[in-house]
Amino acid sequence: MWNFSCPLIVYGDNSLDYLAQVKGKKAFIVTDKNILKLGLIKPVTDKLDEAKIQWEIFDDVEPEPSLTTIKKGGVAVGKYQPDWVIGIGGGSCMDAAKAIILLLARPELEPESLSVLEEFNFRTKARLMAIPTTSGTGSEATWAIVLTDTKDNRKLGLGSTECMPDVAILDPVMVMGMPPQITADTGMDVICHAIEGYTSVWGTSMTLGPGLIATRLTLEYLARAYKDGGDLEARKEMMNAATMGGMSFGNSMAGLAHSTGHALGAIFHVPHGRAVGLFLPYTMEYLINESAETTAKYAEIARYCRVASSGSDKECALALVARIRALAGELGQPLSVKDCGVGQAEYEKEIPRLIERALNEVMTMTVTRIPGEEDLGRIFKYAYEGKSIDF
Ligand SMILES: [Fe+2]
Repeated sequence: MWNFSCPLIVYGDNSLDYLAQVKGKKAFIVTDKNILKLGLIKPVTDKLDEAKIQWEIFDDVEPEPSLTTIKKGGVAVGKYQPDWVIGIGGGSCMDAAKAIILLLARPELEPESLSVLEEFNFRTKARLMAIPTTSGTGSEATWAIVLTDTKDNRKLGLGSTECMPDVAILDPVMVMGMPPQITADTGMDVICHAIEGYTSVWGTSMTLGPGLIATRLTLEYLARAYKDGGDLEARKEMMNAATMGGMSFGNSMAGLAHSTGHALGAIFHVPHGRAVGLFLPYTMEYLINESAETTAKYAEIARYCRVASSGSDKECALALVARIRALAGELGQPLSVKDCGVGQAEYEKEIPRLIERALNEVMTMTVTRIPGEEDLGRIFKYAYEGKSIDF
């Protein structure tokens, strides 16, 4: 038995108008101080005022939110007793909102124990809304939550299938001011979600569509959004692509670019989208070299995205890899770990830890060619030098 979950998606110009028709009494807004400073909360609270919904802002969310912050948010939401919890921001704010609404239902739980095994039934108290201010994580359309245990400096992949937002509002006004570097980093995350979701061994005919369309939109619009942040069409289509990317990998699974990229990000503090985007071409080459099944899927994407029109599956798949490298180049993204500014000696010393972290990720197992320690070590080495994978 399979299921496909996604929120009600309100998108396009003036999508925030949806808020004026929302039924409820009190909204608890989860965000960060930067979003507040950028003036991105006011258009939301103006609409809530119109709808006569009271609101309170919790703006303590930091990047990769800590368990301590979530606990603090849990206490605040418990005092406020809202009937809506609204996450406004990038993945961190939306993930924090998901964790905080779970604590509204089960205040006795420690944030690290939020898991798919618990029942929360939080909708008897409140509903969940996500309003993204970046086009990347797809968190508005997934039930996953990433938190940080600052004591052990570990990332925790938590979540409950109940955490799928009820509503996601994709209003382009929320992303128009996004700086080029964040547009590039988060946009590379989108193409990873789309392609890895499309090729995941847990993918089904339900997840293929959003993955395919999200890839084409990213190839068509990401460079435009990066070069001209005021390009409304490009911004809108990248918002759609990010949410579809979330629908794709959120209902299947991401893959090797995510497990290797996570490892690099955790040890060398490279931003998520930049790290996974960097590994995507290398991990695609690794799969192309041995897996006819995944190569055929890459070729389908390449043909659909008009990256290649003739040639064998392998030629089309490699054309897609080249197109992704060209896109990263257009965005000024690093094409190798060396380009990220990581020192060689320090990197080589950490290769065993990089391998260990990648092996501990489920995303290393949801591809059609599962690397062992040795292959992972070689992938990490080749990616440092910027050398195409030839094994
Ligand atoms: Fe990602």
